[in-house]
Amino acid sequence: TWHLSDFADSLIDQVRQQVGQRRVICGLSGGVDSSVVAALLYKAIGAQLTCILIDNGLLRKDEQSAVISEFTNHFKADLRVVDAEDQFLDALKGIDEPQEKRRRIGAAFIECFQAEAESIEDAHFLAQGTLYPDVIESGAAADGPAATIKLHHNVGGLPEKLGFELIEPLRDLFKDEVRRLGEELGLPPALVWRHPFPGPGLAVRCLGEITREKLDVLREADEIVVNEIKAAGLYRQTSQSFAVLLPVQSVGVMGDARTYENAVAIRSVNTDDFMTADWSRLPYELLAKMSTRIINEVKGVNRVCYDISSKPPATIEWE
Ligand code: XMP
Repeated sequence: TWHLSDFADSLIDQVRQQVGQRRVICGLSGGVDSSVVAALLYKAIGAQLTCILIDNGLLRKDEQSAVISEFTNHFKADLRVVDAEDQFLDALKGIDEPQEKRRRIGAAFIECFQAEAESIEDAHFLAQGTLYPDVIESGAAADGPAATIKLHHNVGGLPEKLGFELIEPLRDLFKDEVRRLGEELGLPPALVWRHPFPGPGLAVRCLGEITREKLDVLREADEIVVNEIKAAGLYRQTSQSFAVLLPVQSVGVMGDARTYENAVAIRSVNTDDFMTADWSRLPYELLAKMSTRIINEVKGVNRVCYDISSKPPATIEWE
């Protein structure tokens, strides 16, 4: 029989053998995958690990501070935080095409990461939380479908450009396996069960051109969606739940006045492996509460829609 603890031990052994006495740097996003990679590396090589958190300005509300406090509560590893909001927003200025947005975010990420990594003189390896589905959807698996569905900036390209040797300990795993591994490694449940968040962050949920103002609107709406899902006790029963800011304005009425404001879509899906997904059958009462709160509390939004598309043919993210 297969034991998770044996599997974790063997991964730790593999990492130790591969790394030897050298230094590993690890990008931390606050998501499950990079946290599990960091935990695994920390167990394997401790002080030889340096983590880098790049705040690209595309994170959710209060996410940077949440990641830092969770991280410092659980590891004593070296953590460097890079505030790169301006750099990313500049790179995205005027761009509304989804693949081009992803491309620019990927390029800005490499640039930022490189600058920080160069300041870590003895860095040899780069660790990444690439999962099996990322490998497949980027067309990078030798035995997988060749078509690129989306440009995942966390797969391929990065290590070659930076000149590091790559460590991808989760490359053969699916999300649920990564979570079980995270629990085995002693990560807190709130972190292990956090819904996945894409590398390009809110940029793929803020449709069309990105501005700081739009991102702020989206952050407020998203926080309401997630908090209401949690309050209803449905966070663990859904796989990903979030808000999307649409590049659409519609007419509404507030008091006696006409409004002409933004629309927000709520997206909530259930899935085992994120390669196919179904929309969550959320209770009407919950949807009603989210809608009322978003329209009342988020300035600039006067309409809320619920996304009832499954994957395929839709994808989970909107871009
Ligand atoms: P889609 O939208 O392709 O998303 O159905 C499938 C899963 O992948 C996440 N996702 C990403 N994760 N970098 C990531 O690390 C990316 O560029 C990226 N794009 C999508 C998405 O949130 C979902 O969990």
